[in-house]
Amino acid sequence: MDHVLVTGGAGYIGSHACKALKKAGFVPVTFDSLVTGWEDAVKFGPFEKGDLLDRQRLDEVFAKYQPVAVMHFAALSQVGESMKEPGLYWRNNVGGSLNLIEAAAAASCMNFVFSSTCATYGEQDNVVLDENSVQLPINAYGASKKAVEDILDNFAAAYGMNHVIFRYFNVAGGDPDAEVGEHHRPETHLIPIMLEAIEGTRPALTVFGTDYDTPDGTCIRDYVHVCDLVDAHVLGLRWLLDGKGSRVFNLGTGEGFSVREVIAQSNAVTNRDVPYEEGPRRPGDCTKLVSGSSRAETELGWTPTRSTMNTMITDAWRWHRTGHYDK
Ligand code: UFG
Repeated sequence: MDHVLVTGGAGYIGSHACKALKKAGFVPVTFDSLVTGWEDAVKFGPFEKGDLLDRQRLDEVFAKYQPVAVMHFAALSQVGESMKEPGLYWRNNVGGSLNLIEAAAAASCMNFVFSSTCATYGEQDNVVLDENSVQLPINAYGASKKAVEDILDNFAAAYGMNHVIFRYFNVAGGDPDAEVGEHHRPETHLIPIMLEAIEGTRPALTVFGTDYDTPDGTCIRDYVHVCDLVDAHVLGLRWLLDGKGSRVFNLGTGEGFSVREVIAQSNAVTNRDVPYEEGPRRPGDCTKLVSGSSRAETELGWTPTRSTMNTMITDAWRWHRTGHYDK
């Protein structure tokens, strides 16, 4: 069976990708430093502990498994942190990715699936973004992901390394079997914070900004279910293995939800009220990020099936009540 090297396979999206890859007949090899990931999340294939900044370790792993492709999820991903400590983001996300891309090229592993972000588009209000929208990131996290996209373009031109880049919108929900789920420490994402606030394991949610130029004053995001998202990655992998060449795909649903709307949905799903207070804006936040995903649908045949807000919160809530790696 073909091996796929999954960096960040012990993290939220990476662990779901490993499950999907195994189901699709691949062997997912997790490469993870465990700085933000969880060894308990590695359930679907071998585990190799290592840091992307350690080139020798990467070379060993490529030699051991000879993967047909890389799926690169490992990254720091907090917008707020990236504004306070940009060096961390440039070193880990860009320096680490460059090491990985060079190691892949040296091992003749020429198929690369990259986890990028809608944060590369930056602030473009009242526009439904598509893959040709201009990329003007407004935070260091988005800038670091954009830089890796540029590196991949250069490696495609120079060495024929093929890439599929996925620019995600807001990923939410969890494995319906609750084998893996979303578990960040610290947690910064809206939906898990809301659920923890409901459970009483953290203080009330602070709504970051109520004076945005949106109908209810809070930021609008496009949420996509993690299982739909990783299904797209398996399709992207097959695209590469079929020799279809490099391509960029947005992954979202085209539907935007404000923070207040997400809170209301959560109240409805859990039958409990999210305790929250209103606070100032968080630096680096865009007013509205909404995507069209028609390219992924028409070219990859991607059909999201779980990406309704109700299902995302239902699946996240199940995991919060039954999962958690540290319980
Ligand atoms: N929010 C709050 N209070 C909180 C947390 C979030 O009001 O305690 C708000 C944010 O201001 C934002 C929305 O909820 O308006 C969603 O915030 P998240 O932190 O859940 O997600 P982001 O939109 O900031 O970013 C996420 C990932 C990034 C990724 C981006 C788009 O964290 O890695 O989606 O892909 F780049």
